[in-house]
Amino acid sequence: MTENKKLWGGRFTQEASKLLEEFNASIGFDKNLYKFDIKGSIAHAKMLAKQGILSNYEKDQICKGLEQISSEIDSGSFEFKISDEDIHMAIESRLSEIIGKDIGGKLHTARSRNDQVAVDFRQYVMSANLEISTLIKELMKTLTNIAKDHLNTLMPGFTHLQHAQPVSLAYHLMAYSFMFMRDYERFISSFERNNFSPLGSAALAGTPHNIDREFTALELGFKAPTFNAMDSVSDRDFALEILFNISVLFMHTSRISEELVLWSSSEFGFVTMSDKFSTGSSIMPQKKNPDVAELIRGKTGRVYGNLVGLLTVMKSLPLAYNKDTQEDKEGVFDSVNSAKNSLVILNEMLKTTKFNSSNMLKACQKGHLTATDLADYLVSKKGTPFRKAHHIVGECVAKAEEMGLDLSQMSLDELSKIDKNIDNTKVLSLENSKETRNSYGGTANSSVLKQIEILEEFLG
Ligand code: ARG
Repeated sequence: MTENKKLWGGRFTQEASKLLEEFNASIGFDKNLYKFDIKGSIAHAKMLAKQGILSNYEKDQICKGLEQISSEIDSGSFEFKISDEDIHMAIESRLSEIIGKDIGGKLHTARSRNDQVAVDFRQYVMSANLEISTLIKELMKTLTNIAKDHLNTLMPGFTHLQHAQPVSLAYHLMAYSFMFMRDYERFISSFERNNFSPLGSAALAGTPHNIDREFTALELGFKAPTFNAMDSVSDRDFALEILFNISVLFMHTSRISEELVLWSSSEFGFVTMSDKFSTGSSIMPQKKNPDVAELIRGKTGRVYGNLVGLLTVMKSLPLAYNKDTQEDKEGVFDSVNSAKNSLVILNEMLKTTKFNSSNMLKACQKGHLTATDLADYLVSKKGTPFRKAHHIVGECVAKAEEMGLDLSQMSLDELSKIDKNIDNTKVLSLENSKETRNSYGGTANSSVLKQIEILEEFLG
């Protein structure tokens, strides 16, 4: 009888097929978790010693061995083998090579790979929540700083991508700051909700060993241990939440990216992106392309795919652990990396983007942006019912179009012919339009300054 060499090989009489080994292995991607796996094992070993399950000597040997493995992986000298299947078994096998099987073989007491992978992946996701939220804050800071310089930069606000009403660039950018504030809060609340340790849940039903789950939870920076071992080894909500949070974040970054792509076109000319963050064409010498913004916009597709992918993996899975859940990691690693990289580059790109105030102002002179102001004037100063005022101003716009003018260029003479209540043209000025929209949350400088204050207080 040939002996199967796997860590789990006791009951097997034949070696695993190469095909199975390759199909089954997750080492190719879960090696990303090695730092968390080692941290988890050190905490577990310390707990076992504290509980008298390991001697202090055994615990010290195990911890020393694990630290050596950590440096081997750091330095690139560690040999990752498909036959080890995953990072958990790769590290455990190496540990036994270094300190011998008699002590190395004791580390897995009161633990299963089911709670081990759950605690490793949770640590990864919890720290990703914090890293991403820090990067979001940086982006909010940049947007708010740019906004402060552009309180008086007028631009058309759009609906249906048609000119609607004049706003300040500061106001438009602050809209994004508040979207990212919600994103920040989403990552933090996911962190708070999921920052519990599954370690010590063992395979699915807990363990007869006298362990201290509270100790390992605190040692690893979690708030407390999870409450039900069966749920703990089955649960991937924490991974789904970060995938969802990243999806919403990307929905937002795709919108600002889309605007940067539009705004950098010659049709708009609202922004000039720095050469540092633009690319050329291999054939058209004149080209300067906004590839970064386009790529961020494009990555959104993959990020949404990762969310739907894992939701589908988890759907209908019976309790408790199933190998299907091994499919949870690649999508999460991919979305987390995309989020971190995109936030860093978007932030740097925005800092170096030039906003062309004069082109924005020029754009404001098209599209009768202050039509609503004239209607509001007739309502508030002349007692005209809003519906009627709307109609009168509609006629003014039609007249302006007929004359090839923007409403703001019309003479008082022409306008008062349409309605004698129109007795001044100040109401048609862009500046007046912006500054009178001083309702809470509006575009007037006084309102935008309040928004900036709220955001800066939030940023601390
Ligand atoms: N590589 C596995 C995963 O990522 C680790 C857990 C394996 N557990 C098991 N019972 N086969 O899910």
